[in-house]
Amino acid sequence: YLPCLCSCTHVANSQTQDRVQAFKPTPDKPFVLGLPTGSSPVLIYQRLVQRFKAGDISFRNVVTFNMDEYVGIPREHPESYHSFMYKHFFSHVDVDPANINILNGNAPDLEAECYQYEEKIKKAGGVELFLGGIGPDGHIAFNEPGSSLKSRTRVKTLAYDTIMANSRFFGNDLTQVPRMALTVGVQTVLDAREVVIIITGAHKALALQKCIEGGVNHMWTLSSLQSHPHPMLVVDEDATLEL
Ligand code: GLP
Repeated sequence: YLPCLCSCTHVANSQTQDRVQAFKPTPDKPFVLGLPTGSSPVLIYQRLVQRFKAGDISFRNVVTFNMDEYVGIPREHPESYHSFMYKHFFSHVDVDPANINILNGNAPDLEAECYQYEEKIKKAGGVELFLGGIGPDGHIAFNEPGSSLKSRTRVKTLAYDTIMANSRFFGNDLTQVPRMALTVGVQTVLDAREVVIIITGAHKALALQKCIEGGVNHMWTLSSLQSHPHPMLVVDEDATLEL
């Protein structure tokens, strides 16, 4: 199961494992998986690919929905989330390309694109497990501070902190970082039957503290997970520095 597959030593609780084992995906009832980008999940993708290559797991009956995508850079751009997902995961496993869903940040009508994405998730029966990371400001997907906790997939202007944090992927050149993105909403994530968030590094310690020890509030959107029935945070030692 996912948390056991990353480099952390934390293990899923037994309830979670029971639920996953009870779920046997078929073409008619696939497993619907929400997926993130960023450096946090890279090791998980590596491990999933290893397990696939070893013949232990298959993604044949898995439908995926990615969390977000930049607006205004071509799909083929090396830093687009499309490129990221194919580079780290989709090109190496047996997922059916027809089952891969990633928002199109170049759609002629971005609002329609977001609306249709929510409809597709609904039609797929909702997300079983949303895997994610957070930004240093506690954002999940691109739900920047101030996002409504009831938000759905939509166009979002990126916060300066996020532009700064992500500039490392764009040659540390702030001017190259897209200013906008399409993102699933906070409520879209909360609707998943299970949410697993990976948080590593001292630069995320404040966010972890605010989201666990503070109240639920829209300035630290991860805090919304406090109201989820099946949340799990997978954290390393450094991220716990402020707890
Ligand atoms: C971006 C993504 C988030 C991700 C965050 C953290 O902002 N939109 O979904 O959680 O980066 O990325 P990293 O894991 O590289 O710190």
